[in-house]
Parts: sequence; structure tokens; C-alpha cells
Amino acid sequence: MSFFHRKAFWAFAYLMSITSFANAQDLNKKVAGIAINYDENNVPDYQLPELLISENGDKITSREEWFNKRRPEILSLFKTEQFGLFPEKPKLNFNVFENDGSAFNNKASRTQVRLFFTEDTTKIKADLLIYLPKKSKGPVPLLLKIGFSPNSNAVDDPELKEGMMWTREGERVPASQGRAFKPFDVEKFLDNGIGVATIYYGDIEPDYPAGFKNGIRGHYLEEGEDYPAPNEWGTISAWSWGLSYAMDYLVTNDHIDSKKVALYGISRLGKTVLWAGAIDQRFGMVIASCSGEGGAAISRRQYGETIHHMVHPNRYFYQFSGRRAKYSFDPNSSPIDSHMLLSLIAPRPLMLQTGDTDYWSDPKGEFDAAVAVEPVYELLGAEGLQTKTWPAAEKPILKDLGYYMHAGGHGSLPSDNDVFIDFLKMHFINK
Ligand code: GCU
Repeated sequence: MSFFHRKAFWAFAYLMSITSFANAQDLNKKVAGIAINYDENNVPDYQLPELLISENGDKITSREEWFNKRRPEILSLFKTEQFGLFPEKPKLNFNVFENDGSAFNNKASRTQVRLFFTEDTTKIKADLLIYLPKKSKGPVPLLLKIGFSPNSNAVDDPELKEGMMWTREGERVPASQGRAFKPFDVEKFLDNGIGVATIYYGDIEPDYPAGFKNGIRGHYLEEGEDYPAPNEWGTISAWSWGLSYAMDYLVTNDHIDSKKVALYGISRLGKTVLWAGAIDQRFGMVIASCSGEGGAAISRRQYGETIHHMVHPNRYFYQFSGRRAKYSFDPNSSPIDSHMLLSLIAPRPLMLQTGDTDYWSDPKGEFDAAVAVEPVYELLGAEGLQTKTWPAAEKPILKDLGYYMHAGGHGSLPSDNDVFIDFLKMHFINK
């Protein structure tokens, strides 16, 4: 099917499904013409798919059965039904173009690495910017942040060369002309013995429907294809695949403790780090901020954003496998839900950070998923949240699973970093 035919098909699927949900919800609040439920009383009854019963009905009672049988089943479902199948990564090819930089008043060493994703090194490539605390002796834990800005805008370091950025309309502009975000507080992590690396998601694939033409998915299209097949990768798989390629480099760097690399991303990149942690078990921790629908929030709740809104042809269909659209009609017909995505990270530390007024991303739905995944953490000898009571804002729960809801809206606040650092220290430094 061509890119444009597929868009037409989805548009039709949507028209059909809009009518089936609209009656039950507040018709005054719509996104893409689709009603939104913000009332807990209208959350339908639902049953989550079983985590610890395999497809042939066997109970999963041991670590071996989890890793050899059930986990591969769940991973395979997420590949085809949610994020899309992706190709094998190529052999690592990189160039360290700075290795003796110094930043933040000599607090950090700075390394910059160009990762080449294709044989032709003029094509798809991403820069990995790495700061390590100079004071630390021996390999250090690292926070690997995938972000919306090129590295030169992601941090406050005047010595960086200005990067190029994609607009959501598909233009490539100098970073200073693009959308601006607050620079990340690298120093706070360095002061706690934790390195920070950043990578720009647009270098892997630009974030707009036809972005594949300038991104890694376009590079892998077969002769005669003009869009990935319905079970193949959306951009979230592409960004995650890129993170896994970045990890191929990180394991070669002796100054980094590669067993202690924590992924961090916000929003669509919160969804991305969950999926990257699922497909690459070398990542030792995941911190997902406001990942919402398609991330940590239970789709069956139909609160805030739903599958239906998410994969609308005028919205974010391109971030997912084409097959996700078929669950817009009825999320209960899906063999998966977000608690199963979280289970793919178990027993590794996983922090879900949300905001109490970020209703669109359904903070309660993220908490419910964390509660639901607890049996898998326990089976694997790790600690779940150990409560079924949704905590108030500003009250972090930090076990192997972590949940923290700041008072406020979408994204991470600077004060959230203190909670992330507590979680990182708890698992990577004080253990
Ligand atoms: C939209 C989208 C969300 C996504 C967010 C973001 O709001 O509906 O699912 O998480 O964008 O990435 O900022």
C-alpha cells in the first residue's frame, strides 16, 4: 500500500470509530474531532491481559519461564502490534571528534561522538554528546537523554557548535531558529557522580509524517516500497533502534559503567525510552516522563488520550506500527496493554514520572500499570510499588519500580531531577 493510500484507509477507519465512542464521552472536549474522557466515573470496566500466563495457557512461575517463554511472546506482540518490526542494526561505525573537552568550569570532561547509521557516512548520523564528572575515579553511571533539541541547545555549554534541527513541518533550520526548550541541568548529575549523554531524536528520524524520507526508516525501504509495511517500524521504533546503536558505542567507552546506563526521555520520547529499554536489555534503568498513551498509561482506561486519538491520520500514526490503528475501535480487543510494556523492563529499575494536571497523558493510568506489573517484578526478585493507593503529587515511591507525580503539567520540572538522582543513586551508587 502506498503512503497516501494508507492515510486514506486510516482516515476511513477513524470516521467509523469516532461515531462508536462519541456518545459515551464529553462532546465538548475533542482532539482531531474525537471526544476525550476526563471523568474517572466514565472509565469503563476492563480486564487486563494476563502477564503470567503464556499463550498456550501455562502458568509462568519461574525466572526461566519468564525469560524463555512469556517475555519473548510479549516482546513479539509489541513489535508487530504497537511499535513495529525493525531491522538488525549495522556494525558500529563512529568517529570521536572531540575527546578531551572540558566543560562546566572544569567539572566535566566532554566527549563528542558521531554515530553513522548507514555505510555512506554523509547520510544518517547522530552526534552523541557525553559529559563525565572529572572527580570520579573509574567508570561512572550515565544518564542517556534523548531529546527534542540538537545537543547545542539541549545543554548550556557555549563551546558547542550549533546543530541543525528539523521543524515539525519538515524544514531543517539552525537550532537557534527552532523550538526552544530549557537546557538540561547536567551539573546537578555530575555533582552526584553521574555522567550525562544527550542525543537529538531528529538526527535518527525527523518527527513528522513524511519524516521517513529524511530518516532511517526511509533508508531501509525495499525497492518499490514507499512506506514501511503495516507491521514495520514507526518512528518510536526508529528512535529506540538509534538508542540501541548509541549503546553499542557506550559499551566500548571504558570511562562509562555500561551496566549502569539509564535512559531518559519525555513524552513521545518517554514512550521511546520504554520501548528502547524493552528491546535492549543492556540498558540498566529507564526513566520515562509523561509517556502517556502508547507509553505507560493503560489504553483500556480510555482516559485522556486514547489509541484512537494517537494514531489518527492527522496526528501521530507514523510513530507506531500501522497495525495499532485496528485497536482504535476497541482497545479491549488488543492482546496487549501498557503493563506488559513495563514488564519487558523488569526486573530493572523503572521510574514513571508524571504530573498531576497532565490529564491528557493519564497519570492515574500510569500508576495502575505500575501496580499491575508488580507480580513480574516480584517473580524476578525485585520490588514493585507495594501499594495500590495512588500517591498524592510530590510524594515519590522509590523501589525497583518508581512512581513520581509532580504538582504540575506535562513534561519534567527542574525539581524532578532531585527525584531522578535519588533513584539513580539508590540503584547505581549506593547498592
Ligand atoms: C502529543 C501526543 C502525546 C505525546 C506528546 C508529546 O500531546 O498526543 O501522546 O506524548 O504529544 O510528545 O509531547
